Amino acid sequence: MPEIREEELNSLRSQADIAEVVGHYLPLVKKGKALSAVCPFHDDHDPSLNINTDRQIYKCFVCGAGGNVFTFVRDYEKISFREAVIKVADMVGFKLSAELSIETQSVDPAIQRLYSCLKDGVQFTHYNLNTINASDAKSYLKNRGINDAIIDKFELGYNPDNDELTKFLKAKGHSTEDLVKSNLTRINEFGEKDVFAGRITFPIHDPQGRPVGFSARALQKDLAKYVNTAETPIYSKGRLLYNYHRAKTACRQAGETLLVEGVTDVLAFDKAGVYNVLATLGTACTKDQIRLIRQISEKVVLCYDGDTAGQSATYKIGTGLLEAGFKLEVISNDTGLDPDEICQKHGAETLAAFSRKRVSWLDFLIEYRLKSVDLNNYSQKKEFVRVMMNEIAKVNDRFDREMLVQRLSTLTKLTAEQMGLLAPRTTTTPSESQLRKSPVLAPRLSKLEWAEKEILGQMLTGRLAALQFRDELGFLPDRLNNALAMTILDYYRNHSEILLADFINTLGDGALVSLVTEISNNEIYYKEYNQRALRDALTHCKASMLDHQIDQLKTEAKKTDDLVKRQSYAKQLEDLRNEKLRLKEQKKED
Ligand code: UTP
Ligand code: MN
Repeated sequence: MPEIREEELNSLRSQADIAEVVGHYLPLVKKGKALSAVCPFHDDHDPSLNINTDRQIYKCFVCGAGGNVFTFVRDYEKISFREAVIKVADMVGFKLSAELSIETQSVDPAIQRLYSCLKDGVQFTHYNLNTINASDAKSYLKNRGINDAIIDKFELGYNPDNDELTKFLKAKGHSTEDLVKSNLTRINEFGEKDVFAGRITFPIHDPQGRPVGFSARALQKDLAKYVNTAETPIYSKGRLLYNYHRAKTACRQAGETLLVEGVTDVLAFDKAGVYNVLATLGTACTKDQIRLIRQISEKVVLCYDGDTAGQSATYKIGTGLLEAGFKLEVISNDTGLDPDEICQKHGAETLAAFSRKRVSWLDFLIEYRLKSVDLNNYSQKKEFVRVMMNEIAKVNDRFDREMLVQRLSTLTKLTAEQMGLLAPRTTTTPSESQLRKSPVLAPRLSKLEWAEKEILGQMLTGRLAALQFRDELGFLPDRLNNALAMTILDYYRNHSEILLADFINTLGDGALVSLVTEISNNEIYYKEYNQRALRDALTHCKASMLDHQIDQLKTEAKKTDDLVKRQSYAKQLEDLRNEKLRLKEQKKED
């Protein structure tokens, strides 16, 4: 593979704005003048990823991740640097040189074939729904109020009987092996069989919008209602959400995501003009799914079915989302119906109104717990109050807290004071997220560590500092710092200045990128050339290195009984001590 030319890389880099590229994946938050986002590289709750548009770099103050547009896309998408460059070019409409553009299809060909099976499978089933083969399926959908517009938008289809899908895909050149791997076909004693035969198909896409599987509904009551694609190399149920690729823009715009149980609920909301809706396809929500939601909004509105299963899913998923730092609301549903049934029974407008009928998470929690509590039972009541006071203590807004306590008081006929006895003891220990927010400079550095960073900071802002470093010291005690210093010196050999966002491209090592972004994000280190300050830092490094050498010599000297050796050590020690004295005097002169 040809190297990507530096000029090409820099020219693309200068056209790809860091805020735009990060914003392509994550919602950006304005903090004063600065832009930030929830960091995707650790389990972040607050926006701690700082986006520096002046320098065109990003830096997370919590986990240390940092870099430029290319490293962001590479690490976010978990792809190679090269693939990231191609993606960024695509994003900003930059025309790459010919050799690079042919690599655009860089996914593993074996995996690529599975995507292709699914793509053709979706096309075939969708086409089939409008054939005579599928008249039952079509009228079934019609009876459920699913119109042609919805059918087309969501590419609903029908998988005919007699294994026609398998036959079609094989005729199109797909291998049996790939069809089995993508779980469209299974092999049993009767031969190669369609997995979704006789069912209405709902294509499921990955977050990038590629079809990767199906949820397929039976027409008759006596069959399993839904058959879903099993785990395949491209389909992992816990890592995708139904409708994510279509809804993500709407979720970002609305600032909230409606989370529902089933495919048909998403379709019903679509009919009602509510587009920021995702389905978990059941009553579980994994950490990976939570991470996906975090990329499109910080608020979730839970809208699970009105039955018991749906309500306990609300509790379970809500608790998980709350722990992950989401803002939450619940659509109160005492109808016993799911959104799709509400739409069928009462119409799309009623469903749209229903989607605005929200209660706070705590209101939901009170109602939810009350269902399983007998307030006439002393110990049940006490436990209920204890649990609720614990939840209320987590509410930030004081007024909200007061209101909730009052409500609880009315419910339990206890005074606020009595209930206070069951509240968790308030401590002044800051929460983990508060700790994380505390000053960025927090870790107290030794003077040596500080001096090394000061040297590197000045070297990064200007060539003169680098030359002074080369002439007066030449290397740094810390291995990583030294590696960076050497890289900087090398860079100045054929560049007159360092443009951080481009310089980062030349650092293969992630630890170096992290170090550069850390230093350059800290004005204490990253500052204009100052000969005096630089000399102080260099002197300090020299002195520490001398101290270190002196210590080592002393230890060696203690170990030996050999007189000749001892004398030699003594001589070396004297030299070192003299050198240190000279340093001290020089410092006084300065
Ligand atoms: P529901 O039983 O609530 O189905 O299951 P639904 O969405 O209302 O479907 P309709 O309206 O009866 O057609 C909720 C979700 O759980 C999964 C499906 O993803 C479904 O959307 N499920 C349910 C299955 O995977 N298999 C099943 O047999 C049933
Ligand atoms: Mn339903």
